[in-house]
Amino acid sequence: MADKQAKLAIGAETYDLPIMEGTVGPDVVDIRKLYGTTGMFTYDPGYKSTASCESALTFIDGEEGVLLHRGYPIGQLAEHSSFMEVAYLMLNGELPSQDEYEDFKVTITRHTMLHDQLRQFYQGFRRDGHPMAIMCGVVGALSAFYHDSTDISDPEHRKISSHRLIAKMPTIAAMAYKYSVGQPFMSPMNSLSYTGNFLRMTFGVPAEDYEVIPAVEKAMDRIFILHADHEQNASTSTVRLAGSSGANPFACIAAGIACLWGPAHGGANEAALNMLHEIGTPDRIPHYIERAKDKNDPFRLMGFGHRVYKNYDPRATVMQKTVREVFDALKVKDPVFEVALRLEEMALHDDYFIEKKLFPNVDFYSGIILSAIGFPTTMFTALFALARTVGWVAQWNEMISDPAQVIGRPRQLYTGPTQRDYVPFDKR
Ligand code: ACO
Repeated sequence: MADKQAKLAIGAETYDLPIMEGTVGPDVVDIRKLYGTTGMFTYDPGYKSTASCESALTFIDGEEGVLLHRGYPIGQLAEHSSFMEVAYLMLNGELPSQDEYEDFKVTITRHTMLHDQLRQFYQGFRRDGHPMAIMCGVVGALSAFYHDSTDISDPEHRKISSHRLIAKMPTIAAMAYKYSVGQPFMSPMNSLSYTGNFLRMTFGVPAEDYEVIPAVEKAMDRIFILHADHEQNASTSTVRLAGSSGANPFACIAAGIACLWGPAHGGANEAALNMLHEIGTPDRIPHYIERAKDKNDPFRLMGFGHRVYKNYDPRATVMQKTVREVFDALKVKDPVFEVALRLEEMALHDDYFIEKKLFPNVDFYSGIILSAIGFPTTMFTALFALARTVGWVAQWNEMISDPAQVIGRPRQLYTGPTQRDYVPFDKR
């Protein structure tokens, strides 16, 4: 019996509902028995007030702009850690010792190759297919290739399939890119880091050696850290919901990729960069700000606003810094960065954005960096999927191990016709 109780009055009846407390953040009212005792459901489209699970992975305080993975602030992880270390942390709960870290990197590295038959699978796609379409298809197809790790009741199987997914995602994403530009697939190179290997598989060609630029490798690795997990967002909830039926992890992650693709979620970085290009020069910004504020215009400032953050997204802060580092390393400049800085400044001083607490999110600057590194916009969401795979598999593992887990099955408020009799064609 929980110590704290909430009281719900419906007509003359009062019901006690237990309150569950987390380690930090809002408590939750446990409504699991609500339907049984009151005959009523709750109504919460978009789950704005609904906690769908217990989780010890990621904590966000949207009002304060705080993001913690297993308790560690994202800024510290982005500054001092590596994507592989964050992956270990997310999967295992603690930072690895040096030996554990080295072993983990070797394990992941040894799983980076794809079954050779999957190469032929790529040939079935049109060359101009979106990389996310290819990612959905190929990741879903992994379950047809790796039967030996799909018994989700076996923790060892879960571990192997998690490692496979994290390890193979860069290979799959790089192959999607290579296929689109008509270049040969590059095999993984075990001597390189996770991120260096990905850059080589993407931008290298068999005809010559590929040199990984350390500053670019670091920036890319940091972008992966910033996208590793974000608690119960739409794609993660999709992975959990798919997994709640007992579906295999490859199928669940393919479902997550499909959800991530949408412009309101992972597709926003592509949309944000396209928008910045469309704006083009700082003098055109006021016009776009006015459009974003106009209720009759569907235009929104892409890369702005967030369901949870009502403050500066802490990942956007790191992103903005990383833009400068990448520009310095590659000795490039992009006028679109000036547009982005000016747009941010103007929006943050505009009453509409202040009142609605709309701040830049992680996607606002990431496209500028990825574009400078050489990725086409169509690859942006694929990179997000690559990184988010760490969060997805960690969340999926947590869900499968949770004794409170049951198949996800929301209810509804029915507003359709009441029962009526079938009418034959000649009587309609
Ligand atoms: N530009 C202009 N107005 C906006 C924006 C924006 N980017 N975002 C929200 N608003 C306005 C809405 O019109 C709404 O106004 P109203 O209250 O007058 O109707 C109000 O702010 C609240 O917006 P909602 O859409 O209800 O907020 P919600 O939490 O549901 O949506 C979302 C968050 C989808 C991210 C939204 O801010 C948005 O569409 N942003 C642009 C897309 C984007 O950048 N997505 C990336 C999210 S981060 C990620 O997935 C990694």
